[in-house]
Amino acid sequence: MTHGRFIAFEGGEGAGKSTQARMLAAALEARGIACTVTREPGGTLGAEAIRGLLLGTEGEGWYPRAEALLFAAARSDHVERLIRPALEAGRWVICDRFVDSSRAYQGGAGGLSDADVLDLHRIGSGGLLPDLTLLFEIAPEKAAARLAVRDAGQADRIGGRDEAYHAKVAAAFARFVAAEPARFARIDGNADAETVHAAVLQAVAALADAR
Ligand code: TYD
Repeated sequence: MTHGRFIAFEGGEGAGKSTQARMLAAALEARGIACTVTREPGGTLGAEAIRGLLLGTEGEGWYPRAEALLFAAARSDHVERLIRPALEAGRWVICDRFVDSSRAYQGGAGGLSDADVLDLHRIGSGGLLPDLTLLFEIAPEKAAARLAVRDAGQADRIGGRDEAYHAKVAAAFARFVAAEPARFARIDGNADAETVHAAVLQAVAALADAR
């Protein structure tokens, strides 16, 4: 049995990742590739419960270290129960956010060191990395306009953080791509969904060829 491929979608809020994840899965399925579309934080019962703890706006919230540990715990459950078994069964896994979100949000913007975030990932998830990570980039005004429609003033605890925080997230993602260009593909998320989808297919083509 061939091992599946693991593709992560990353980027700031309102970049269109979840729409594009569904479109990519449909295109791959049409070519006979079985796909699992999932998201973080979440994807399993336990990780979805942790998602509620992380993103709910009631209560006092979490300091950066506790937040990073909760994301790592959710990811550990997700990797063990869903991602690794799917890959081992030959399925392609398309994940809306993965460890680079922890590096960008809890690391770059939250103040933890990159080494600490990666240590948590090693302990929790055996350091599993996607075969390819697509970074969706979008102009901040465009993201704000999309989020105004999607969230209607009810942003979650992390999405609702201030502009300075989200600017640090974007800067961190840009640093990761510059440091490891072979692991990432940059996707211009400003265009309409079909144009962005074409760019996604092009980025993923190399993985499909290597099948
Ligand atoms: P979600 O509604 O899925 O956001 P989006 O649609 O923008 O992807 O909420 C996930 C939030 O959690 C988002 O603000 C990013 C944040 N996050 C982290 O801070 N660290 C992480 O490791 C992950 C996976 C997400």
